[in-house]
Amino acid sequence: MSDNQYAVSRRAFLRTAGAVAAATAWPAASYARVIGANERIRVGVIGAGGMATNHMKNALRPLQKQNNLQPVMVADCWKRRAAGGAKILGISNAQTDYRKVLDTDADYVLIATPEHRHAQMTLDALDAGKAVYCEKPMTHTIPEALAVLKKQRETKLPIQVGVQGMSDDSYSSAAEAIRNGVLGRVVQAQIEYVRRYDKMGPWRREETKKYVNKPADLNWTDWLGSAAKVPWNPHHYFEWRNYRAYSGGICTDLFVHRLSRIMKACDLDYPRRVVGMGGIWQWPDGRDLPDNFEMICEYPRGMNVYILGTMSNRVGVDHLIRGYRGTLYFTPTGWVAKDKDDKILAEHKKTGGEDIRLHHTNLHNHLRKGEPLHCPADFSAAAVAAVCMANESWRTGRMMAWDKTNQKMVPADTIQTSHFPETSAS
Ligand SMILES: NC(=O)c1ccc[n+]([C@@H]2O[C@H](COP(=O)([O-])OP(=O)(O)OC[C@H]3O[C@@H](n4cnc5c(N)ncnc54)[C@H](O)[C@@H]3O)[C@@H](O)[C@H]2O)c1
Repeated sequence: MSDNQYAVSRRAFLRTAGAVAAATAWPAASYARVIGANERIRVGVIGAGGMATNHMKNALRPLQKQNNLQPVMVADCWKRRAAGGAKILGISNAQTDYRKVLDTDADYVLIATPEHRHAQMTLDALDAGKAVYCEKPMTHTIPEALAVLKKQRETKLPIQVGVQGMSDDSYSSAAEAIRNGVLGRVVQAQIEYVRRYDKMGPWRREETKKYVNKPADLNWTDWLGSAAKVPWNPHHYFEWRNYRAYSGGICTDLFVHRLSRIMKACDLDYPRRVVGMGGIWQWPDGRDLPDNFEMICEYPRGMNVYILGTMSNRVGVDHLIRGYRGTLYFTPTGWVAKDKDDKILAEHKKTGGEDIRLHHTNLHNHLRKGEPLHCPADFSAAAVAAVCMANESWRTGRMMAWDKTNQKMVPADTIQTSHFPETSAS
């Protein structure tokens, strides 16, 4: 078979993979073997705004040569953005309808649209037989995360979620040390995401003044997707992180990066109980999500994770994990674990980093060689659950719990939860 024939048959496989997988249950390695080590990987881009531009300039363009990557199309519901994205990648194929990307022979699609569009686009991509790199959070809601996970399991197509910090090996290496007992019984972790915004406040943009009227080449209906049909609103389009209909704000935009680090380091899955507290304390400017927020998750292994978040002050706290035997401190170069007298128990110099180029490369290596994904769908669904539970706790004023039997969040006082560890993790 010639290279070209092979490529054609492989891509034909990818297109139909979604349809046949439910019946044939492909093991992950089978999928990986489908893309040859030297064969070009094709990528389509959905969304060409701020983060997608970063991906295109700093990952997809440089990786074309380095990783034998071929961009095939850029779609954005704002035509001028699609055209701008295609120009960055040096291609002419720009479209306004994202579904057009799914009709190409792309092996995977990058989804870099607002949170509320992630789930439908990911489901559509999997149905079209595409692998997916979806920006964080994987989805906007818990039911969406479970639907995406179900589809991912049926199709066996890979999803890499864009928490690029997972391509820093500090967290997997901390997990190994913790499993080996370096910290003794782990009971608590703390981490933060702090910023100090200027007068306009978090996620407000000057462009809203310029686009009081909707640009004629922007498809507002497609941007809204299944969100409530509201007339054009530049604040919603440019500042979507401030509104619950499209985002979870601090929690889903920022905390998901931090929580994922602790989840990986401590082998955490779904939390047992979660509280979220905060408010719209500094910028009561029409936003309906907090500008200052904190959350605490209690996990079944018997530990809490505390996350501090303020947009008013940039003084943070150490990122660390507390155990009975010692404390593990994350540092800019990796981590160090010390006992109560400050004696070093173990340390690690990181390889990799919080880097989108490495994160795409990990997906490429998964497609070619079956390398494990750094931020897969099952892990990402558990992260979505925790941050959505925190937001729901804040909104309702109740502590939320994860109902494992029914796979949903419920008010914590409506189900029985244990006060003891559910695993033997020490
Ligand atoms: N990993 C990171 O560090 C990081 C950093 C920033 C943003 N992000 C994530 O990237 C995603 C996008 O954020 P952003 O800041 O680029 O937002 P943005 O508003 O700048 O860009 C989103 C783009 O998606 C387009 N879009 C929306 N609906 C569409 C549709 N139906 N079809 C085609 N295009 C559509 C919009 O027109 C817009 O150009 C979010 O999930 C965000 O959380 C991640």
